[in-house]
Amino acid sequence: MNARFEPASRLRGRLTPPPDKSISHRAALVGAMASDPVCIRNYLHAADTESTLHAIGTLGAIVERRHSELVIRGGGLRNVQPPTLPIYVGNAGTLMRLLPGWLSFQRGHAFTLDGDESIRRRPVDRIAEPLHLMGATIEAREGRYPPFTVHGASLDGIVYELPVASAQVKSCVLLAGLTTDMTTVVEPNPTRDHTERLLARSGASIERQTLAGGQLQTTIRNADELELEVIDVPGDLSSAAFLITAGVLVAGSRLVLENVGVNWTRSGFLRIVGRMGAVVITDAEPDGTFSEQEPAAEIDISHGPLEGVEVGPEEVPLAIDELPLIALLGCFAEGETIVRGAQELRIKESDRIAAVVEGLRGLGADIEDAPDGFAVRGTGGLAGGRLQTYGDHRLALLGAVAGLASKDGVEVVDMEAATVSYPGFAEDLATLMP
Ligand code: S3P
Repeated sequence: MNARFEPASRLRGRLTPPPDKSISHRAALVGAMASDPVCIRNYLHAADTESTLHAIGTLGAIVERRHSELVIRGGGLRNVQPPTLPIYVGNAGTLMRLLPGWLSFQRGHAFTLDGDESIRRRPVDRIAEPLHLMGATIEAREGRYPPFTVHGASLDGIVYELPVASAQVKSCVLLAGLTTDMTTVVEPNPTRDHTERLLARSGASIERQTLAGGQLQTTIRNADELELEVIDVPGDLSSAAFLITAGVLVAGSRLVLENVGVNWTRSGFLRIVGRMGAVVITDAEPDGTFSEQEPAAEIDISHGPLEGVEVGPEEVPLAIDELPLIALLGCFAEGETIVRGAQELRIKESDRIAAVVEGLRGLGADIEDAPDGFAVRGTGGLAGGRLQTYGDHRLALLGAVAGLASKDGVEVVDMEAATVSYPGFAEDLATLMP
């Protein structure tokens, strides 16, 4: 289904963005691994996170849906029974890369994971390598793609330096580390730490330390069981970022977004937009914080002029899913906006460097790609046109926001891709229109 987004005159109002996708995936997995029932408040009901509920259901957890809550009754850390059919992860990369961490220590059992066309192009060798070092075996198509099978084993602890800054890989290794004496992950640059926060809240022993060279080191030790009663999921900054961008770009706008997760390892986008000169006020969590809680804040956005900005490799993991929006903001900024060190974008739900550059150029942007990012010269706005999403939810939402800020409107091809993370986007937008 294609959808047209016409230029907006102004956006005004207050709303709460959808619940956080990353935290919802983790909450469901930890709920299934826990010994006692876990209540999740404000779980995201979108295609990706429904895949996670389905997956834990096939592994034996009972998922009870109450009004605005879920209750998950899992069977504990070590008693997973393999389903007879492959576990279908749909489009969810986070599920595909985190779940094997748990499955890898189900001794003597094998589990096959598969997903949609996009997931079949996304590499799993990045988790197979550390899990193999710990003693599990993963057999993947062509050695690196789904479908793949995890053979559970009794695991040994490792010290693992992440070759790529990936929260999914880190999380997978930490989950596997739950049954080892000690497992340590070293990150070249910090990535989102929702798994660590949730595991610490569940009683696991997690220690974090910044090394002399600036790397972040996280150590997890053997746990008999995970225990926690309630998980509150804050609003998703990655979804809110589309509304924030719309509020900044559409003249006359003023938006207040409530209950937005502002964990500092997720909120790089707010810092970058702040440097561009946009008025984004938030109660930010200080950099370097490690807490068992996920902080949430109100964000107040007004339309205003923008300046070009440079984003380098250290900042990339803290804003990885919002970088397409930095490109869009750059089209409206004075001067040049440059993003470097973001080669990981090429293996997301689509090749997000190629898709963003082609998509925005088609709407009139002056943008060049690089192997690891892009450079945009601000030209005062975008004409409009048609944008291909390649089935990628973040591309669909990017096209929608570009349409609101454009001169002639944008037709987004395959808008339903947005249901992966933000199924209620069109309805939310309607509440902000005069
Ligand atoms: C995620 C981590 C990031 C991000 C993805 C969600 C997570 O991926 O792009 O949308 O929930 O851990 P990588 O770990 O591949 O960087």
